[in-house]
Amino acid sequence: MSALAGGLGGWALGRWLDYPVTLACAGAGLAVLALSVTDTLKGHDLLDWLRNPEAEPPALPGLWGEVAHRIHRVVAQRRQSIQDERARLDQFLSAIEVSPNGVMLLDASEHITWMSSVAADHFGLNAQRDLQQRITNLVRYPTFVQYLSAGDYREPVKCLVARGSLTHLQIQVREYGEGLKLVVSQDISERERADTMRRDFVANVSHEIRTPLTVLSGFIETMGALQLTDVERRRVIELMTQQASRMQTLVSDLLTLAQIEGSPRPASDRWTALDQLLQRIQTDAQALSAGRHRLSFAFDHAEGQFLSGVEAEWLSAMSNLVSNAIRYTPEGGEIAVAWHVREDGSGEFKVKDSGIGIDAEHIPRLTERFYRVDGSRSRDTGGTGLGLSIVKHVIQRHGGDLRVTSELGKGSVFTLVVPATRLRSGNPASSAPQAAEAH
Ligand SMILES: Nc1ncnc2c1ncn2[C@@H]1O[C@H](COP(=O)(O)OP(=O)(O)OP(=O)(O)O)[C@@H](O)[C@H]1O
Ligand SMILES: [Mg+2]
Repeated sequence: MSALAGGLGGWALGRWLDYPVTLACAGAGLAVLALSVTDTLKGHDLLDWLRNPEAEPPALPGLWGEVAHRIHRVVAQRRQSIQDERARLDQFLSAIEVSPNGVMLLDASEHITWMSSVAADHFGLNAQRDLQQRITNLVRYPTFVQYLSAGDYREPVKCLVARGSLTHLQIQVREYGEGLKLVVSQDISERERADTMRRDFVANVSHEIRTPLTVLSGFIETMGALQLTDVERRRVIELMTQQASRMQTLVSDLLTLAQIEGSPRPASDRWTALDQLLQRIQTDAQALSAGRHRLSFAFDHAEGQFLSGVEAEWLSAMSNLVSNAIRYTPEGGEIAVAWHVREDGSGEFKVKDSGIGIDAEHIPRLTERFYRVDGSRSRDTGGTGLGLSIVKHVIQRHGGDLRVTSELGKGSVFTLVVPATRLRSGNPASSAPQAAEAH
């Protein structure tokens, strides 16, 4: 409009002055008009682009071009920094996601603003669908709800929740910002289980040691207070020796277990001659049975076979099975000890007895520490209830398996399955010194 007015003004002034001047003024006015029109068009182009700055900026000459370029640069920088921030936030959230702990954020009115998938799993929520919901409408763990509403978050709270199986959760709330809350949850089931096991273990050990100690101190008192005949004295000393040796066995079994548990996986390049190992087991079995049972030994292809791992552990595992068979088989019973290599190359050490047998309900628990089917009977035979847990540890460490089948009153079969990788036929020159060293 101003350009048009300028053009007309120039023309009118020109007319008033004289003709050539009129022409010049009209030309100038038109030029201003043209300039103004193109300027407006460029401005519109720029405005159009600014409505959608994602697209390339218009290629404008002169001042408008400079303005477009500068705006484009600022927009691109902003966009880049937003992308960088988003990438950093994603990285941060991914780091929280891989944490074994659950993380949840609550706003001032306890609505969920964000949660990791672990937190969703811990609280039985859906990480997307349940956002913006009030946590107490969704999570009903009474201990947690009470903890959240009490507002004292100095200590974490423990909840026992049913998520498939029973899970122990430890939940800690921290406040930040203006009434915002961070909720961190941790699955402590394994720790709780270990704590319970440790408590049970200490209780069991104390109980096992207290019994012989009580008997021993009773005898000591008797000997101090009464005049005993030689025969009585000998009998008392014999009983005291029995109790002391029971304690010794217990302590030595405990040490064996502790040592097995604390040592690294047995090396696979230490080889033990199998026939010599089995020979030792046979001799020990005969001594322990002392002719009270019918023993048979069938060691297939044991000669020239080598077993890798810790020799003392193999010996302990195998002889534990044999001594159990002897101790839990009444006089006159049959015990068959066998070794053979299976088609897949794994080995099988099998101890079969015709003894008292084990009821099916006890079989899954036999390898628990101190587990005895019949405590008093086992104690009478000098048992501590640690033998099979040692066997299980040993065979697991060597990558094998322990299998038990039994029938009450008929007898049992205990089988150690030795993995093929731990067996070798012949004694290659490279391992000869190691095999020799193992003995
Ligand atoms: N061959 C078997 N026949 C019948 N019962 C068995 C046999 N082997 C083990 N048991 C039962 O399993 C229980 C656990 O055996 P385990 O070898 O762990 O302990 P233990 O023999 O009592 O004591 P330890 O071996 O420590 O001296 C035994 O107390 C016994 O009740
Ligand atoms: Mg035993």
